Amino acid sequence: MLPFHQAVENEFSKVNKLIVSQLHSDVGLVENIGHYIIDAGGKRLRPVVVLLSALANGYQGVDHLKMAAVIEFIHTATLLHDDVVDVASLRRGRQTANAQWGNAPSVLVGDFLYSRAFQMLVEIEHMPIMSVMANATNVISEGEVQQMANAGNPDISEEIYLQVIYRKTAKLFEAAAQVGACLAEKDQDAMITYGKHLGMAFQIADDVLDYQGDIEVTGKNIGSDLAEGKMTLPLIFARDNAEPADADLIRKAIAGKTADNFSAILQVVNTSGGLSYSRQQAAKEVELAKHALVGMPDGEYKDVLLDLAEFSISRVS
Ligand code: IPE
Ligand code: IPE
Ligand code: MG
Ligand code: MG
Repeated sequence: MLPFHQAVENEFSKVNKLIVSQLHSDVGLVENIGHYIIDAGGKRLRPVVVLLSALANGYQGVDHLKMAAVIEFIHTATLLHDDVVDVASLRRGRQTANAQWGNAPSVLVGDFLYSRAFQMLVEIEHMPIMSVMANATNVISEGEVQQMANAGNPDISEEIYLQVIYRKTAKLFEAAAQVGACLAEKDQDAMITYGKHLGMAFQIADDVLDYQGDIEVTGKNIGSDLAEGKMTLPLIFARDNAEPADADLIRKAIAGKTADNFSAILQVVNTSGGLSYSRQQAAKEVELAKHALVGMPDGEYKDVLLDLAEFSISRVS
């Protein structure tokens, strides 16, 4: 258990029970695949953000528990779909659901998790929160489609990259942070800004880990972004700052969607400063996330939110 989970231990254990109980279905395959991915764990960072945001804003009710489960279900649905799109074979230290059962079951169970999340959301009977979640899921889909459309294109700019990661990843962190304040009926701007920058930092760090992470620790394959023809920040910086021959190596790998030259490209990404630049940019996002909370009254939960922002870039998995 990470320190953030400890800070909300009581609530977190209730959320986990809720997540498991809400997987119920009469259809065996739905439960099998649902449990397969949920029981594999995952860091459960987004539900923790919901809990911390609600508590830091003085929320006294119980709907933050259900809201945390809703967010984790949506996250898990996006992972099932994402692994199909990315043809990924490893997730949370296990074979992906698509590798185990095939694409069709993964897509359909992803749909089940999405729609179960919305069933739970309706039970909360909070129209502004429904609106936040409807909007967030819509934006996430756009981000994934936009990224898919850009795959194999070596000319993607940093600006487009930032737009894609905001949509596909940061938006859900933003929503997680926002709904906490929304439940507490407090001003949402600080939490929105916090969640957005936390999510940006988180995805940039993830893109660095795809080059230099340890597969045993991340539980995901390394080099998969290159194999998918995905221009992420380390590679964009390397393309624009390496020697022409090295930049060409990158362009060819992206256009051909191949990680055959991964070691050579990793070296270029490293020596051109692509990894350190990306870490710097992630660190800037962390500072922006932390800065968003300056006006918030001090307290234990705020401190944990600040720690969580730091963790998003120091993490190894
Ligand atoms: C993975 O998210 C998808 C990204 C946005 C990079 P996490 O790293 O939070 O995945 P789990 O839930 O901990 O497995
Ligand atoms: C994750 O994007 C974003 C969503 C799941 C919406 P990635 O494709 O970069 O994440 P991983 O590396 O598969 O976890
Ligand atoms: Mg992926
Ligand atoms: Mg993806």
